[in-house]
Amino acid sequence: MNRKIEVTASLEVIPIGLLTELESKLIASAKEILESAHAPYSKFMVGAAVLLEDGEIFVANNQENVSFPVGICAERAVLSYVMGNFPNLKPLKIAIAARRMNEKGYAYVTPCGMCRQTINEYEVKFGGKIEILMLNGKEEVLKADGIEQLLPFRFHNLHL
Ligand code: THU
Repeated sequence: MNRKIEVTASLEVIPIGLLTELESKLIASAKEILESAHAPYSKFMVGAAVLLEDGEIFVANNQENVSFPVGICAERAVLSYVMGNFPNLKPLKIAIAARRMNEKGYAYVTPCGMCRQTINEYEVKFGGKIEILMLNGKEEVLKADGIEQLLPFRFHNLHL
């Protein structure tokens, strides 16, 4: 029998009312900015808010394009901005929220594979975990303590 490698991933499920003040602020920021998304094709509006180690919060949303692959997710939009402008400030947390254009309530959302790899990049760069808060559309937030919970077996060693 071949050897098997098994991993267990876990997410904490937090009722909205039990979030810390900071977590609520991040989720509220993601909810607010998703309303300005440019998502005429998918009609799926996503907002992301990043907390840096100096306490500042930055936000962005998904920006789609008529040539579909050109579009960018909210997470990579905000991370590209903050990491380009504040390359020495460690990102501590990222919160995301989403809403379908024709629905009132929030949608379940987790980062796509490319965004997971991007979050991993900055965990590696700063040598620390980045907490990921995801609104699940049911008055709850899913919390991953780091990218390992969302991206096991990830690629992170180009040169060995
Ligand atoms: N999207 C994000 O911005 N972040 C996610 O976590 C999931 C997907 C965007 C990409 C595209 O504009 C739309 O949502 C539908 O996939």
